Amino acid sequence: MAAVDYITNKFICNKKDDVMNNNLDFKKYFPIFSTNNVVFLDSAASSQKPATVIEAELGCYKNQYTNIHRGTYKLALAATTAYENTRIAVQKFINASSAQEIIFTKGATESINLVAYTYGENFINSDDEIVVTICEHHSNLIPWQRVAKKRGAKLKVCYLDENQDFSLNEFQSLLTDKTKLVCITHLANGLGLEFPIKEIIKLTQRDTTAKILIDGAQIVAHKKVDMQDLGCDFFVFSAHKVYGPSGVGVLYAKEELLKIMPPFLTGGEMVKEVSVTETIFNDLPYKFEAGTPNIAGVIAFKAALEFVSGVGLDKISAHEEILIKKLEDELQVIPGLKILGAKDKHQSLLCFVLENISPYDLATFLDNQGVAIRVGHHCAQPLINYLGYESSSRISLGCYNTEEDISKVVSAIRLAQKFFN
Ligand code: ALA
Repeated sequence: MAAVDYITNKFICNKKDDVMNNNLDFKKYFPIFSTNNVVFLDSAASSQKPATVIEAELGCYKNQYTNIHRGTYKLALAATTAYENTRIAVQKFINASSAQEIIFTKGATESINLVAYTYGENFINSDDEIVVTICEHHSNLIPWQRVAKKRGAKLKVCYLDENQDFSLNEFQSLLTDKTKLVCITHLANGLGLEFPIKEIIKLTQRDTTAKILIDGAQIVAHKKVDMQDLGCDFFVFSAHKVYGPSGVGVLYAKEELLKIMPPFLTGGEMVKEVSVTETIFNDLPYKFEAGTPNIAGVIAFKAALEFVSGVGLDKISAHEEILIKKLEDELQVIPGLKILGAKDKHQSLLCFVLENISPYDLATFLDNQGVAIRVGHHCAQPLINYLGYESSSRISLGCYNTEEDISKVVSAIRLAQKFFN
C-alpha cells in the first residue's frame, strides 16, 4: 500500500508488487476524488493534485511566503531556499547536469516561446530549415511558423506513415545541411504515440548541426527522462501535467546555449546592474526569470516531483501500460469506433472517433454518466485535419486511474452508441 510520510513530505510505495497485483489505489491521495464522484480521464489536459502538493502550496502562503531573491530577512531567505530547492529537484528529476540549466516559466508554452523569441529570432537565418512533425501541439508549431516567417527560414513537416505511425525514414529524409532546428514532441497529445526520441536525436546530431527542442509536456508524468542521456538542447514541460500546480513550467537548455541567448522578458530580477542607458544581465538562470514568479506554485511543485519519485515512474508507467492496453483492447472491438494512431502503440492516452456520433455529443453523454474526457482538436488542429477529422475524443490517464475506470468509460461509450443510433 502506498503511503505519505508527512514528516518528510515524501510519497512512498511500500509493496513492490502493488502495481503488478493491480492493487494501486492512488485516488485516496487526491482530495478531488473524495469531493467528486467522477471517472477522470483528462489528465493529458491537466492532472489532479495530491494532498501533499495542495498542502505545500497552502503551507507556503501560511508559513513561508515572501518574495524571493530580494529580502535579506530570515523569512525571505527561507522562501528563496524553498524556491531554489525546487530547481534542484527538477534538475535531479530530469538529470540535467546543472541547476543553472533549469529556467522556471509559466508553462511549456512559455518555455517554447522563450526559445523561439531568443534562440530562434537570433540564430535562425534566411534559408535555414526548421523541422517539426504534423503531430505538434499548437504551442510547438506556431512559434516556429513565426520564426520561419520572420527570419526567412523554411518550416518542414514530418508526416506519419500509412499506419499512422512516426517514420524515422521520413524524418531522416527531411534532414539536410540547412536544418538548424528540430522541434518535436516526445508523446503526441492528439495521438498518444511516443516518438523514438533517442533515435531522433541521434540521427539529427549525426546528419546535421541542428539544435533539438523536445516538447516533453505529455511524457514527464509517465516515463523517466534523462537530459544527459538524451543529449537534446532544449526540453520543456509544465508542472500541472505532472501533478503539480498550474502556472509553472520548465525550460531545460544546455548552459552553453543559455549563455549566448539574449533575455526573453526584461525587468526586475534578471539584472545585475542597470544605468539609465545600459543593463548588465544577471547570471543563469536568473537572466531568464524577469519579474516575480509563481513562488508558491514553484515551491509546491517540489512536492509533486516527490510524489512521482516516491511512487516511482517505473511503477506509474507499468500501471498505465496495463490500463491503456485494456482500453485499446476493449475499444478496438466496438463496431464503428476508430482509434487514431498506430495500433497497440499508445502510451497513457488514446484518441478515437465514432461513426455517426459527434465527439461533443459523446462528451456530454459521458459527462452525464460521470465520466470526464476531452473532445475537440486538442490544440493539434493540423494533425486532426491531416487524419481527416475536425475533432476526436480523447481518453488520457493518470496514476490514479484504475481498471474499473476503464470498464466504466467503455460501458458508457457502448451505451452512448445505443442512445444515439
Ligand atoms: N495541451 C493540453 C491538452 O493536450 C491542454 O489537452
